Order: sequence, then C-alpha cells, then structure tokens
Amino acid sequence: MDTSALSRRCTVVVGCQWGDEGKGKVVDVLAADVDVIARYQGGANAGHTVHAGDQHFVLHQVPSGILHPDKRCLLGNGVVVDLAQFFGELDQLVERGLDPRGRIGLSTRAHVVFPYHQALDLAAEAAAKRKIGTTGRGIGPAYEAKTGRRGVRVADLLDRRRGAERVGRGIAWARGRLVDLGADPGLAGTVDEAMAVAARVPEVATDVGAEIARALAAGKRVLLEGAQGTALDVDHGTYPYVTSSNTTAGAAAVGAGIGPTAIDSVVGIVKAYTTRVGNGPLPTEFDAGMDEKVRELGGEFGATTGRPRRCGWFDAVVVAYAARVNGLTGIAVTKLDVLDTLPEVRIATGYRLPGGGDTPFPPTSWELERVEPVYETLPGWQTPTTGVRTLSGLPRNARVYLERIEKLVDTPIAMVSVGTRRSQVIRTA
Ligand code: IMP
Repeated sequence: MDTSALSRRCTVVVGCQWGDEGKGKVVDVLAADVDVIARYQGGANAGHTVHAGDQHFVLHQVPSGILHPDKRCLLGNGVVVDLAQFFGELDQLVERGLDPRGRIGLSTRAHVVFPYHQALDLAAEAAAKRKIGTTGRGIGPAYEAKTGRRGVRVADLLDRRRGAERVGRGIAWARGRLVDLGADPGLAGTVDEAMAVAARVPEVATDVGAEIARALAAGKRVLLEGAQGTALDVDHGTYPYVTSSNTTAGAAAVGAGIGPTAIDSVVGIVKAYTTRVGNGPLPTEFDAGMDEKVRELGGEFGATTGRPRRCGWFDAVVVAYAARVNGLTGIAVTKLDVLDTLPEVRIATGYRLPGGGDTPFPPTSWELERVEPVYETLPGWQTPTTGVRTLSGLPRNARVYLERIEKLVDTPIAMVSVGTRRSQVIRTA
C-alpha cells in the first residue's frame, strides 16, 4: 500500500476496466484534498453515484466533486455536453440545498450534444445488425460530428445567430442520415428546440485550460476525472464495442486543455471484480447463477440506463494492460466488501488461445471472444469488511487477495473502498 499517489498536484483518476469501477466515490473522497476538479471526456453516458451524508446523488454531466461546497468544478474541451441534462442537474443540486452557481465552468471549446445526436444514436442502434449497446445519449454521433468538423461548440452558442446557423446545418445533416437509417427525419427536432438551452450558456462558459493552468501556477491542486474505463477507450478498448472517446489518462491533458507535463500522478480505479454493461467480450464473465448473485450483492445496475451489468471475476490481464496504457502510479480498489461472503475468489492471470498458447490483451474483439482465462483460485474471507478502516484490520485472506492484485498489476494500491459511504475507505498502511 502506497498512498503517495493520492497527494500530488495534478492527478488523473481513470477507470481500468469497462467503466462503473466506482470512480464517483473515489473522486468524491479525493476531492476533499484538491481545489479544482475537471472532467476531460465523455458526456451524459457516464453515471457517477455518490453518497454524501444521508443523500444519494447520481450525476451524469456534472463532475462528482460538486458535492464539496468549496471546489471549482470544470468540464473540459474533451467533454461532449448535453446542456439540457447539465442545467437540469445544476437545478436539482440547487433544489437539494447544494448551490453550484459560480463554482462550475464549461469549456468554450467543448462540443454540444443536441437531441438530434441522440436521435441518430438510437436510430443507428435500432438499424444495426451488430449492436454496440450504447447508452443512447448521443455520444457517438456528437464525437463523429466533432471529428467530421460539423460540430457545434459551446463558444458557438455565445453568438446566437452563428450558433443557430450551425445547429441548422447539424439538423439538416441529421435528417438525411435518419432517412438513410430508416427512421423518421422529424426526430431531429427544430433549431428553436435545440437552441432553447443556449440562453444559459454565458452563466458557465469559460476557458478551462487557462483556469487549470492558473490554478496550478498558484500552487493549487487539480483532479482530472475520467469517465467510462480503459477497455471502453476508442483506441485501447475492445473496439468496436467501445465508447467514442479516449478514456485513458493520455486524453486527460488534451481534454482538459493542459500539457501532459502538468500531470504528476495517475490513479487507476479498479473494482474488486469485473463488470460490463452493453455488448462485447468479457472473458471472465460468470455463469448465470453467479452473475445474478454478484449483481445483487454489488447492486450492479447501470446508473445511466438501469440495465443489469454483466459480472465476472477480477481480470488481471485487463488491469495490467490498463496500468501500462495509463501509466498508473497507484490503484484504488473498490467494492471489496461485495466479495465478503464468497467462499472462494478467482483472478484471471492470463489468457489461453483455443489452439493452445498464451496471448496478451488482444487488439480485436473477436480474438478476445475466443480466449480462455487462466484462473488462480484463492480462499474467500467470509468476514464483513465494511467497518474496516486500516489495511491491517482486513481479514487475512482479503489482504492476500489485494496483495495478489497489486503484484499482478505491478502497481501499488493507494486506497481500498469497502462501502458506499465517504468514510468507508482504507487509505493508509
Ligand atoms: P456510448 O458511450 O453511449 O456510445 O456507449 C458505448 C459503450 O460504452 C456501451 O457498451 C455502453 O454501455 C458503454 N458505456 C458508456 N458509458 C458508460 C459508463 O459510464 N459506464 C459503463 N459503460 C459505459
């Protein structure tokens, strides 16, 4: 256990599996020690669940750090922002007594997700033979528009006339594409509908990169909050069953608008077992009985779509791969307590090919579908861990399990989470 990864000036928090690793909880805990929290990619496909006091929050668009009353929260240029969702979440926070006004900023360079992107996402999924199982939040079409140089950015909406023009072109493009997909072009909506949210943009628009640079120069601490996980990264994940952004730590600099040399630690969030929501390979997936059991124990239902998550054993091949592509300096293991009642626990330490021989994490989904995990079985601890606050207080077999993960992933464990509450963390040796 090495907690030094948690106390640097500019830290990236990144998911190391297929998302839903519990980043929201870890960010909420780490946010207490930083001044600025910024998201750098993804959009309202994310669902961060945070328990603060006796309140329970699910945030999709606003960074989880907002629950700390004195922190500045930013959405960087790499984010695609659904403005209706974003302002809706801000309004809900105000209603629940947490006033985020003046503490939240949105990059002028961020791209906007409009209802026509969502219509395109849903129509593409409905028409596809091989469905990705997207969250239906318009993420893929918004990033396609960005790289296709058809996107609309926050800055465009500050000039209503130009903004409306660009939105009009986006809608015309979407109508044609909807027809190609066999869907009703009317689903693209109207310019007036799309522009309705633009009026509030001046309240929040800012230059996020410049703000972060100023904060760092003033000796403040910054946390860059990733969404989704490494295996969903558009380059490094299980393509094409991925999201449409780079979720990995390298994207944090680009998506927050700072240089990579500003970042001095990368904390990987790792669930004590594996989950995945949506389609695509999952080598360590449980059989039906165990899947249901762990899903119930861990409350594994998607925070954004409510879909049941597929569950499996801890896959050290994926996490070691994530350690390499993210350059992790530490890991935080979450939901250890979910395994408390199991008589034994397994870790996949390698992949075997159908014809024999081992393979590292392969570049294609069809290869990953075919691998057979090589398991190591360890005794369970069958003792509650939810009340434990020190590493030495954990049952011996739980420590052995964590030490094995640390060894296989070759990265020190910086934190262990043993429940949903802020207080249920182990940070020191
Ligand atoms: P999209 O990001 O909505 O395009 O969905 C692409 C894939 O990423 C699907 O398999 C989704 O289930 C998955 N995905 C997107 N966001 C999240 C997330 O926050 N947690 C877990 N899976 C996600």
